[in-house]
Amino acid sequence: MSDSASIESRHQDCLAKLRTRGQEHVLRWWDDLGPAEREHLLAEIESIPWEILDGLIRSHVLIRPDHAVPRDLSPPTVYKQPPAPEQRALYDEAARLGRDLIRTGKVAALTVAGGQGTRLGFDGPKGALVVTPVGGKTLFELFAETIKAARHRYDSPIPWYIMTSPANHEQTVEYLKSRDFFGLPETEVILFRQGMLPAFDFQGRLLLAERHRLALTPDGHGGSLKALVASGALSDMRKRGIEIITYFQVDNPLVKPFDPLFIGLHAKTGSEMSTKVTAKADDLERVGNVCVHNGKVVVIEYSDFPDELAHARNQDGSRKFNAGNLAIHLLSVDFVDRVVARSFQMPFRRADKAVACVDEVGSLTKPTAPNAVKLEAFIFDALPLAANPLLLEVDRAEEFSPVKNATGVDSLESSKRDQITRACCWLESAGVTVPRKPDGRPDVIVTISPSFALDAEDVRARRDRLPTLRPGDSVCIE
Ligand code: UTP
Repeated sequence: MSDSASIESRHQDCLAKLRTRGQEHVLRWWDDLGPAEREHLLAEIESIPWEILDGLIRSHVLIRPDHAVPRDLSPPTVYKQPPAPEQRALYDEAARLGRDLIRTGKVAALTVAGGQGTRLGFDGPKGALVVTPVGGKTLFELFAETIKAARHRYDSPIPWYIMTSPANHEQTVEYLKSRDFFGLPETEVILFRQGMLPAFDFQGRLLLAERHRLALTPDGHGGSLKALVASGALSDMRKRGIEIITYFQVDNPLVKPFDPLFIGLHAKTGSEMSTKVTAKADDLERVGNVCVHNGKVVVIEYSDFPDELAHARNQDGSRKFNAGNLAIHLLSVDFVDRVVARSFQMPFRRADKAVACVDEVGSLTKPTAPNAVKLEAFIFDALPLAANPLLLEVDRAEEFSPVKNATGVDSLESSKRDQITRACCWLESAGVTVPRKPDGRPDVIVTISPSFALDAEDVRARRDRLPTLRPGDSVCIE
């Protein structure tokens, strides 16, 4: 068959499939498209997973999905810190095991960085955002320094996997190359793309980003499981002898991905997927609530969490449901394989977003209010599938302050403030006097680079290299 005959037959096939679904409008500019544009559009249409989407359009786009929240939820068992006296030996042993696992090359880092960061509105991959209070370090730079420091501390070749999306992959690679992978060997930084799904208008119609391009959006951080397998990243991990993946999101500069206690408890308890949780700041805090339902660990989003459960109290007056999900996980390589091999489909959730698209006459519109439905899988929906999921409570001030919004809660401003607070706390633990304002807030701007210290213990060990701080100082310690 000649090229033009074959493209015409593919066109007819696509048209037939689209017609049965009332979606033929995406080919309405066919006659105006050049050969490369036609090829591009057909390839995108051919890759639409209708076997998933036909049902999802009915259940998630045309109507709002019914998140029937089970009534019979109970609080989960959480490993607390510090441990109870009878747990001390277990924690010590677990921390030793965790260190051994890192030292013997069984642990790899995974950063999910395929999101669109629409709330922040930063032009570029979020990892390239400068986040430190001083020192001009970006999120990727902090993670790279953390990995370098851990490689040095454990004398182990810890590989770093980064999930991008087709929408930001090239920019991410370019950025990391331009910074020379921050001194990490290029072969140890492995980037792979996640999947994309079409966005729909509220009538369930496919949207076009251009006349020859569907409006596609990344399929959620839960898409990482499938993408790890499909991209070959998981088999690469196996070749390197990796058993545990330390998963974190690109937006959290305080993350501590190499926590021996967490890793050791995960391994010792035979957990397939573990999660760090934190005590909730208040009953209605906007974090996912980690609960148990039918013996399985589940995360119920704050927006779905029944008020009476949010306000429920134990006999001693403490909050009954107090485990907030921090999106910091450990995943066993075997677990990812098992989940994906069973062709398990993570549940999808609906998000209404503003998505740029071409209108009826072919002009590009950039709405400021949501005009589209995006379908995303969430990583925490893998928890109910995991054997022995382990939850470790951590101090939020030590490990979590994401940059999600342009202003207010979880913004660059709040994260910088939290980074300063943690740095000052580490410095004070090493005997440094931190100048403070009358209201108690630090009167200095300070960054502790991960290349200098991964935790307060490192700071104390390097006491002799710490500066004296004067009110108003701005210092990056590295
Ligand atoms: P968010 O839920 O904050 O989403 O992602 P987002 O897309 O980055 O930002 P908004 O909602 O558009 O403002 C949490 C983490 O999951 C990653 C993000 O990159 C971030 O690290 N993520 C999210 C993916 O890797 N892929 C996705 O499809 C969605």
